[in-house]
Amino acid sequence: MSKRFYVTTAIDYVNGEPHLGHAYEKVITDVMARAHQSLGEEVFYLTGLDEHGQKVQQAAESAGLPPQTYCDGLAETWRDLTTKLGLSNNDFVRTSSERHKKAVSAILNRLNDEGHFYKDSYQGYYSTKEETFLTEKDKGPDGQFDAMYGEVTELIEENYYFKLGKHQQWLIDYIESNPSFVYPDYRRNEVLGFLKNNTLEDLCITRPKSRLEWGIPLPFDPDFVTYVWFDALVNYASIPAALGDPALGKLRASSDETSNELSLWPADVHVIGKDILKFHAVYWPIMLKAMDLPLPKQICVHGWWQKDGEKMSKSTGNVVDPIGVIDEWGLDAFRFYLVRELGIGPDGNWTDQGFEARYSAELANGLGNLVNRSLSMLNRYRDGKLPKPSRELADEVEASVARVKEQLSKHELQAALQSIWALIARANQYIDQTAPFKLAKQPEQAARLDEILYTMVETTRILAILLWPTLPTTADKIFDQLNLSASPDRLADAAWGGLAEGHQVGKPVPLFPRRDKK
Ligand code: MSP
Repeated sequence: MSKRFYVTTAIDYVNGEPHLGHAYEKVITDVMARAHQSLGEEVFYLTGLDEHGQKVQQAAESAGLPPQTYCDGLAETWRDLTTKLGLSNNDFVRTSSERHKKAVSAILNRLNDEGHFYKDSYQGYYSTKEETFLTEKDKGPDGQFDAMYGEVTELIEENYYFKLGKHQQWLIDYIESNPSFVYPDYRRNEVLGFLKNNTLEDLCITRPKSRLEWGIPLPFDPDFVTYVWFDALVNYASIPAALGDPALGKLRASSDETSNELSLWPADVHVIGKDILKFHAVYWPIMLKAMDLPLPKQICVHGWWQKDGEKMSKSTGNVVDPIGVIDEWGLDAFRFYLVRELGIGPDGNWTDQGFEARYSAELANGLGNLVNRSLSMLNRYRDGKLPKPSRELADEVEASVARVKEQLSKHELQAALQSIWALIARANQYIDQTAPFKLAKQPEQAARLDEILYTMVETTRILAILLWPTLPTTADKIFDQLNLSASPDRLADAAWGGLAEGHQVGKPVPLFPRRDKK
């Protein structure tokens, strides 16, 4: 059994509806997953929900529902989102599920037995209204806590703590000697800067039940539940463990039966947003080290989307609703804009004008037009039957294929689309320059017209394969129109000459219908 390429997204809090940021992370992770699949690897893609903790408990209370009922209701909406986004995820984790909770308990028990935790009391200012401890920093210039905190009392609270300090130097050394562990570089430097300039405080891994009930009970002390981040990070390993990953036996009870033996751990990539870097690049590696488990190969950190240059916020109404955009413009138009507009790393800015401009220039006029012209002309001039193979653009197309393969394998998703669109522009230019529509009127040019038609249609076939990781539905449609029964999901099939002489193609159907300007 060989290890699969294992890729994950952050798991979303179920305290509201999905927005553009959540959709973005899932789409780029899907493109990576499909890219590896297309490159011939076996892939496992995990996404899902983070259901415990104060935020969710409060949201459930506001909705007047028990937390589990509240989560069960919203989980359907989030699961539907994976379908709506065309994700190829292999599983969907919910942290309130038994299979996950078992693994969290196993880790807690083991680390406790091995002396990684201690119980201590903490004295601080507590706001009952906000259900949180405050520090001196939260005081205003007048030395008082803001009225929004309600009554603030000094409180002593007991909790369990996870000893982090002894792993600090190890982690610095690890990140320094594994330069690709945190991507991009400037995020890696951020983590290193933090680790080198601060002494790691021990992590409080519990909440007293009296203050928070909605969490995984601490297996060795019934008065506490597990801190939501300690619980949530484990999802990356709990699901593989439940599916029988031999590398994660420590997360299962010896009595647990495992059905199929999948080999997933260590994860190849955890895709996350910039706000949760510390949890993934500091706490999670230390948890794994303490468990003596291998570390994920990479934490890949993306930026945040804004809308019209401002933070998206429900209160001001400037949110992008992914479902609304998909319903109006189609799934692949949405996926295209996300990946083409924003590379993995910096922050992005959604504008409706930008979206419409890319739709019209790159999808309708660029790709759509090329596929339409190629199929229409073959139908019109040769009854849809492919002439004998020609190699006129073969070298150029094969060079593009090599470039795109390289970019996809390095997760340079935006650059891969730029290369693909350079090829689309080249193919459209080739048609304009060779002018098959003129040659068609000159019977003595029949052999030349054959060469051009083969080149156009074969280029279209290869483009569908290159597009599949990002625009899977479009790639399938192109293959359908080409009357090919295979799936465009193998980059190995992008070698020139795949279309045989005499193959009969179907009729073109517009892929991205032109829209009138609103
Ligand atoms: N539940 C935690 C993650 C636990 S992972 C073990 C969480 N949830 S979240 O719902 O708040 O965010 C989920 C992901 O969405 C995070 O990676 C976050 O960075 C990302 N995004 C949330 N808003 C975003 C944007 N506006 N733009 C891009 N991504 C954003 O954090």
